[in-house]
Amino acid sequence: MELDNPIIVAVTGASGVVLGYKTVQALLEKNEDVIFICSSSGRMVWKDEQLPSFGETIEKWDSSGKFKMYSNGDFYSPIASGSYKTKAMIIVPTSMNTVSAISNGITDNLIKRAADVMIKENRELILVPRETPLSALHLNNMAKLANLGVKILPPNPPYYLFPKTIDDINDYMIKKIMVAIGILKQLPDNYVYKDNK
Ligand SMILES: Cc1cc2nc3c(=O)[nH]c(=O)nc-3n(C[C@H](O)[C@H](O)[C@H](O)COP(=O)(O)O)c2cc1C
Repeated sequence: MELDNPIIVAVTGASGVVLGYKTVQALLEKNEDVIFICSSSGRMVWKDEQLPSFGETIEKWDSSGKFKMYSNGDFYSPIASGSYKTKAMIIVPTSMNTVSAISNGITDNLIKRAADVMIKENRELILVPRETPLSALHLNNMAKLANLGVKILPPNPPYYLFPKTIDDINDYMIKKIMVAIGILKQLPDNYVYKDNK
């Protein structure tokens, strides 16, 4: 099956794997083609944070006909090459390990290699880094990437909207990601800050 100008979604081993899950769901619902990769630590957190079964989820996404998963060691995947056209890449959540590797040009797995390709080809790369507190090392790595045009989108709750559940926060984050990659033109009205005075 050939995908058409797909969006790459990668999940790494940081807390908040549900955001990666919901990003793929949202893109498939928008009829976008998706290439998916999950690191081995990402799989551990997937289980730890009690997401729906990984195998069943991949089967469901596969049945859309618009989805393909590659293993994180598969350098024969087309996304390891800049000659293969992709629309954007989102790493959600992004571990500090992966942030550090990308900012230093280390490409020893497919997620890091694909991110390196996005940077060299001047394509949209979005990182959703999850760590707190952030050390100077983390911040320097992210600043280096931001200066190369990589979008850094930390999963910060929209306190001004008074979210009641974690789902409210997650849904807001997914909308922010959709805006960042241009799938949505702007945030829906109910997510926009309003002057209530
Ligand atoms: C349950 C669990 C939660 C973790 N949460 C984080 C996190 O929030 N942020 C982070 O940078 N690393 C976190 N880690 C550590 C990373 O998974 C670890 O550094 C790993 O090497 C990342 O590999 P990857 O970037 O290939 O996924 C967590 C690990 C586990 C097992």
